[in-house]
Amino acid sequence: MSKSRVIVSLDFPDAKQAIEFCHKIDPIHCKIKIGKELFTAEGPKLIEKLRTLDFEIFLDLKYHDIPNTVANACRVAADLDVWMLNIHAAGGRHMMEAAYESLTKSRRSKNPPLLIAVTLLTSISSDDLLELGITKSIEDQVLLLSKLAKSSGLDGVVCSGIEASKLRYELGKDFCLVTPGIRLDDLNSDDQKRIMSPHDAIKAGSNYLVIGRPITGASKPADILKSINKSISSLD
Ligand code: C5P
Repeated sequence: MSKSRVIVSLDFPDAKQAIEFCHKIDPIHCKIKIGKELFTAEGPKLIEKLRTLDFEIFLDLKYHDIPNTVANACRVAADLDVWMLNIHAAGGRHMMEAAYESLTKSRRSKNPPLLIAVTLLTSISSDDLLELGITKSIEDQVLLLSKLAKSSGLDGVVCSGIEASKLRYELGKDFCLVTPGIRLDDLNSDDQKRIMSPHDAIKAGSNYLVIGRPITGASKPADILKSINKSISSLD
């Protein structure tokens, strides 16, 4: 099992490219994340294949539906032997509790995947929130949904590095914080708005960093991974 806090986001359109990339990195140095595009294209077979390469897998499908539907989806996802999966906190307490409960009924009940919640998508602006009828600030809404996720039994939430220190303070040391929007320098942020370096995000309280293009787009991804792991190793 990898001790690395780095989760490489496999944002590839098909299994061929994803597997080719995975042969360039070592499961000791990272975990991997499979999202909607790759999973929709390739399905559970790809998960099985990547598990034979010894990678721990975060299945990022962000389930959001009625409690019964989400619970069944989470149980089936757990049976794929993934390491982490996620749901939307906006689905509410009943949905989150049902999802958590379903993991105790899966084949993996003795060693269930971590179940985390997406609070607010980082693409949501304060104007979007107002349009949805939510008058709280983004920060307050993220905190409210994170507290709800915790009290519904979830293991953690996805949050930006900027929110991490407040959430760590408010939700305690055992709540898992997973942070995307990581960049190795300020020069190329792609479409990410609120970026942070690996070192600063871990220092702020994040447990795991989701990193895509800075690693998948590098000519030597294994070298980049090693240097990221080195930059955060002193913070363990
Ligand atoms: O390439 P990059 O490092 O920006 O990839 C970040 C990954 O994390 C992408 O798969 C993106 O969809 C995901 N993500 C994100 N922001 C969130 C939740 C997930 O960037 N709030």
